[in-house]
Amino acid sequence: MTDRPFEPIARVFAPEALGREVRLRGWVQKSRSSGGILFLILRDRSGVVQATARRDALGPEAFDAAEHVQVEGLLRIEGSVAEDRRAPGGREVRARSIEVVDAGRPFPIFADQTEEFRLDKRHLVIRSPEHVATFRLKAELLRALREFLDREEVLETTPPILSGNAAEGGSEAFRFDYFGRPGFLSQTAQLYLEALLFPHERVYALTPSFRAEKSRTPRHLTEYLHLEVELAWCDLSQLLDFVERMIASGLRALAERRPKELELLGRPPKELAAIEPPFPRIRYAEAIERLRSAGLPVQWGSDLGSAEERALTLEERLPLFVTHYPRELKAFYMLQSSDDPRTVEAADLLAPEGYGELVGGSCRETEIARLTERIVGMGVDVAEYEWYLDLRRHGSVPHAGFGLGIERVLRWALRREHIRETTPFPRTPARLTP
Ligand code: 4AD
Ligand code: MG
Repeated sequence: MTDRPFEPIARVFAPEALGREVRLRGWVQKSRSSGGILFLILRDRSGVVQATARRDALGPEAFDAAEHVQVEGLLRIEGSVAEDRRAPGGREVRARSIEVVDAGRPFPIFADQTEEFRLDKRHLVIRSPEHVATFRLKAELLRALREFLDREEVLETTPPILSGNAAEGGSEAFRFDYFGRPGFLSQTAQLYLEALLFPHERVYALTPSFRAEKSRTPRHLTEYLHLEVELAWCDLSQLLDFVERMIASGLRALAERRPKELELLGRPPKELAAIEPPFPRIRYAEAIERLRSAGLPVQWGSDLGSAEERALTLEERLPLFVTHYPRELKAFYMLQSSDDPRTVEAADLLAPEGYGELVGGSCRETEIARLTERIVGMGVDVAEYEWYLDLRRHGSVPHAGFGLGIERVLRWALRREHIRETTPFPRTPARLTP
């Protein structure tokens, strides 16, 4: 081999690369040999290319070694770029030399293996083109959301994951032993963000949240990535404006920056680019009316489960905000509506086509008496929330915030059947490894 620098595989397809010598390194995606010619598909992070090697060009020893490389074996290769209409992208590299870095063992992943097996082998399965595309898109979504928040002058903060109390109510929190005291894994960073809001006014956090829900549904993980925002001087309609602009800007970035990955997953980029504000907004009371006229057995006060969410959004092209839920259905910190004490200034954003809740948000209650009453109502000791009540004692400010499930948004945006496909190592009630 020469000491020419290694180039990304994608560069083989640049116009000026034709006829040129290149040096590449990557993993073997496919390999086949016939009549003294070896055909390889080589992958690196930038793309894939076909390489061909002839026994007479490589010499018998090097050819035999290259021929024995397994799928996912690793090579260094040097050769010239030629046109070939049958090759992916219309070009191939004609190898002059191939150096085997790791021949690899037989790769255990094939088509049509059971889902259980594939989850057991997740550490290998994530090399598939679908997973590669999915996690590139996830990174792009996170980047775009951070860019949006940065433009909006919302400060990124780092609240804790370990806590002495369970913010959203104790039943779904993971409990652990913290040096002899009960500790909880964070279900939400919200209460800490509310504290951080006083010195910064606009704050966010992107942290894992944990839910000890036994629900085996295609939209629940026990560990998920939670993007939470808290804004001072914000009412419900301003909050929803913010949410819809943020989501649209994230999806637009996917469409503009990763069209190939979207197409590979079967989601036309223009569909995502068309998700533009304003998103429709209806009150909970109206949602109940719609569901009743559709023949669903609900009444004012019923929670909206997945069947109801599905019925409300099946025909929608844009996500739908449902606002002003009955306060009994919602968390203790939500602001009671001034025009109807039975409801709270809250909204859930429901994805179209039955993909379920993407965002939950609300204005936050500022009155200590009401907060105390709701905390007592949860059956927990008010003393645990004393620090939170302090926030209402020192320059209490009207504010609102929301939490967005990154994998929920991605599942809908990429039309994945199960939420686990949007995270490399999914955590569900049945699975904690690999
Ligand atoms: O609606 P949730 O429970 O709201 C809160 O935790 C608020 N404290 C957030 C806030 O206002 N700062 O959760 C927010 C979002 C949901 O809308 C959903 O997208 C996602 O988190 N989520 C889950 N995603 C995956 N798996 C689960 N088990 C999820 N539970 C909630
Ligand atoms: Mg919710």
